[in-house]
Amino acid sequence: MTMDSTLDVYYEFVMGLTREAAKVITNSIKLRKTVDTKRGDWDLVTQYDREIEEIIIDRLKSQYPDHMFIAEESAGNNSPDLTDAPTWIIDPIDGTTNFVHGFPHTCVVIALAIRKEVVIGIVYNPLLEQLFTARKGRGAFLNGEPISTSEVDDFSKALVCFEPGFIKIESMAEYVVERLRAIIKVAHGIRTLGVAALTLCYVAMGAVDAYHIEGPGIEVWDIAAASLIIAEAGGVVVDRVSGEPVDIMKPRAIGAANSKIADAMVKIIRETDERVDQMKNSTH
Ligand code: IPD
Repeated sequence: MTMDSTLDVYYEFVMGLTREAAKVITNSIKLRKTVDTKRGDWDLVTQYDREIEEIIIDRLKSQYPDHMFIAEESAGNNSPDLTDAPTWIIDPIDGTTNFVHGFPHTCVVIALAIRKEVVIGIVYNPLLEQLFTARKGRGAFLNGEPISTSEVDDFSKALVCFEPGFIKIESMAEYVVERLRAIIKVAHGIRTLGVAALTLCYVAMGAVDAYHIEGPGIEVWDIAAASLIIAEAGGVVVDRVSGEPVDIMKPRAIGAANSKIADAMVKIIRETDERVDQMKNSTH
């Protein structure tokens, strides 16, 4: 078998598995959930996150016993390691807080990385029937239709997504508030959806022009699949400090329709952070 046909087999298998696992979301969205907190009340987990992760890992393990796994609920507080081996990167429910509240922006996320490169990305919201998929070099799709990022290349015309929830974390609060203020001043508008992978896919489909995500608990499973989907849709995902392609293992990411929008966002955040640093230094 060639590498391409092997990947086709993986893809078909994991597509079926994603749909099956996502039924747990559909069947439980209106039910009462047992909710535990992890790092804080902004970081939730339910019995359904664990159930979906178990379904996905069990099925993939019995099909591909020599593959590796990095998955949100089994990783605990350990920093995962990405090796050259075929590795499935899984967020069983991204947007758990949305899921807990029945806010219908939540999804199952699965990526496959081989030699540290993401080659398959799937983000599926079964509540709104939005299935985002990409395979390396083969384009990005929503429900089987090709998608591409927007043509907006002027940040003042951009619709931007952002996660202000990290204001709850003392050491990040001032940076997040000031970044929010700075982006709102310049951009067309700002939205916040509380689901990293889906929001990145909204960049991929051209409905959002830029998205910034960074904070404790934002890990490889939040961005691996959607980074491929954005790239295959013509967009970029960069490190918010260097502006270079993001290291998926250290996600402090900006997903954008193109590099002009990404550069503008990198600059706004850099200048804002410098102002916050100066303010902090002058009060010490
Ligand atoms: C969460 C989402 C959300 C972000 C949270 C994450 P989870 O992932 O991606 O956008 O603001 O910090 O924890 O925990 O629902 O998989």
